Amino acid sequence: MRILTGIQASGRPHLGNILGAIKPAIELSKQASNESFLFIADLHTLTSLKDGKVLTENTNAIAAAWLAFGFDASKNYFYRQSRLASYHTELMWYLNCFTPFPMLANAHSFKDKSEKLADVNAGLFTYPVLQAADIMLYDAHLVPVGKDQRQHLEMSRDIGGAFNRQYNAEVLVLPEARIDENVMTIPGIDGQKMSKSLNNYIDIFLDEKELLKVVKRIVTDATPLEEPKNPDTCNVVKLYSLVAKTEEIQTMRENYQRGGYGYGHAKQALHEVLVREFAKERELFNYYMSNLPELEAKLKEGEGRAEVVAKNTISRVRKALNFD
Ligand code: ADP
Ligand code: TRP
Repeated sequence: MRILTGIQASGRPHLGNILGAIKPAIELSKQASNESFLFIADLHTLTSLKDGKVLTENTNAIAAAWLAFGFDASKNYFYRQSRLASYHTELMWYLNCFTPFPMLANAHSFKDKSEKLADVNAGLFTYPVLQAADIMLYDAHLVPVGKDQRQHLEMSRDIGGAFNRQYNAEVLVLPEARIDENVMTIPGIDGQKMSKSLNNYIDIFLDEKELLKVVKRIVTDATPLEEPKNPDTCNVVKLYSLVAKTEEIQTMRENYQRGGYGYGHAKQALHEVLVREFAKERELFNYYMSNLPELEAKLKEGEGRAEVVAKNTISRVRKALNFD
């Protein structure tokens, strides 16, 4: 099974991305019968982020995070979309010509963004077509994504289907979304969904002092230290329960119910388990971030192998179009 997913480079990876997307995708990539294509969608990110330096920093941090969590770049395909831009955008153009205008105009994500953002550019409008090209360029069967991407995947299938019907052949492989309804929504430090855009995220790769500062900002109520507290409604306990060991979670819950245990204590404990449970990943992340040539070499190697696949698809598509 060929699995493919793209990650925008709009910020540094946070605990929500890690538990909700990175870890499950790595598990999937480890199954022997699977071949994973994992890429950084920096062309998509350009729709909202124009600063090349920041884009590169985010790209490196995301790549380092995937490697730190054990993604095997040599067995799979690991690449930056921008480095294979000529293939992605060529296929995108062909697909543009099979995409009905109203399909794009009515897309939830476009409507949503065009209401919120000051910069409503054409890239934002044709975003789903580039995404369709990203997927079909590599003949991907399965695309693990979050719920918000469901419509983009339906559009990919519709566009690919229209192309195949025109040329009366299975030129493009129609992908299927894999939306794991069970993936928990990781809460942010304010209790809402953890998200870059809400600025409520925990960056587990921060140095210990900075990480503690973020943990201390977790919103709690004003129950005094001496009084018993409800563990079921506390954001600190929710986050702790995602990373600590079962006995530790039980102990924290008992401390809450007993009283004489403050939110400050709980935050200290959360900080400790974050540093302890992610010790290996934090170290590896720092290793790659301070050895960028090594990171670059892994991406380049992936890009070289991905190019072979992309070229092959483009040649098939050009044949169907009678362009070769
Ligand atoms: P953000 O909301 O921070 O911009 P993205 O939309 O870039 O994050 O999401 C990247 C991936 O991480 C997606 O697969 C998404 O489903 C997952 N993800 C993001 N935030 C969370 C969260 N709070 N809980 C679980 N998964 C999340
Ligand atoms: N649109 C996706 C997101 O915002 C990122 C993405 C780009 C993608 N191309 C893709 C995801 C191809 C899966 C497959 O999360």
